[in-house]
Amino acid sequence: MNPKTKKRGLGQYFTKEKIWLKDNIKTFILNSGCKIAYDPFAGSGDLLRAMEEIGFKETKGLDIDEDLGWEYCDSLLNIPSTPNAIIITNPPYLSNYSARRRHIFDKVEKYFKSSGYGNLYLLALAKMLEAQEYIVAIVPETFINSSFPKGRLVSINILEENPFDETETPVCVLCFDGTMKSTHEVKVYKNEHFKSTLGALEAKRLHPRNDLYFRFNTPNGKIGLRAVDTTDPRRRISFMKREDLNYDMSGIKISSRVITVIDGDVEDGKLSIFLETCNHILECYREDTDDILLSPFKGNMKNGVRRRRLDYETCRAILEKASRQLEMNR
Ligand SMILES: C[S@@+](CC[C@H](N)C(=O)[O-])C[C@H]1O[C@@H](n2cnc3c(N)ncnc32)[C@H](O)[C@@H]1O
Repeated sequence: MNPKTKKRGLGQYFTKEKIWLKDNIKTFILNSGCKIAYDPFAGSGDLLRAMEEIGFKETKGLDIDEDLGWEYCDSLLNIPSTPNAIIITNPPYLSNYSARRRHIFDKVEKYFKSSGYGNLYLLALAKMLEAQEYIVAIVPETFINSSFPKGRLVSINILEENPFDETETPVCVLCFDGTMKSTHEVKVYKNEHFKSTLGALEAKRLHPRNDLYFRFNTPNGKIGLRAVDTTDPRRRISFMKREDLNYDMSGIKISSRVITVIDGDVEDGKLSIFLETCNHILECYREDTDDILLSPFKGNMKNGVRRRRLDYETCRAILEKASRQLEMNR
């Protein structure tokens, strides 16, 4: 494999910085009582070295790339169970879609076909949970909105600082143990600060009823939406009049997810108040959920806060809620 294909196909982005090792994660690792730090996707060994620094005398690394000097193992097929070990890893991230776009799908097809997961890190997590009780894994923050089973989670730490040199993928650190729990026991931290439990956050998620007419990606609609935060914190996600988008409408496609135009039953005379209401609901939602339920987007704003994207399911729920509020105030 040429070096670029190898890097992308095997997800060889190594964890350089120790900023991921927050105090609550360190406590979890030490309280596990495990004696061996185990990385089944060991790469350059940075995570195992960090474990030696906090007192582990024994470590074990595996990797599929024989050039790296670890014991060979295809850990996406099976991770050998190791008594008394805690997994500390950063598995490869690669979505089915990116593999196709980068023409490397043939190299990873067997993993996608056999598992049905849309991203290799989810398959890696499933293999880790089969192998060990205790797991600490640095994975894409999109995990939070995924349907992956969350029963064995203990905590989620969202990192706004980037622990990698070569990729800007927004990540979080997951800690799992061997017991099944309610999501109301799963602690969610952002940059070390405790924010909420996963269950309490999920209870705040907005769901559309799909009983009002709103049609997305309709170039001649009235409602403009910038669905992603720009890097300027003053220009975050917002609803506006279509013409205020200052955007070439021929760019609005069925697949548009960043800037779009929405058609809906909003009287012209009420459009301004409707947009204001939508923005108010969105801002309250962001504040109330610490942004955690909005999809993370690559790169932070200039103030260091992670950029977010408004998914269309939540957007529809906001549009519906604004319509109902205005209806009630008639
Ligand atoms: C994102 S890197 C992480 C390395 C290390 N955990 C760290 O954070 O520094 C992922 C590693 O997994 C390895 N890898 C990719 N696919 C693998 C597989 N199927 N089995 C075992 N290792 C694999 C890659 O070679 C790479 O070294």
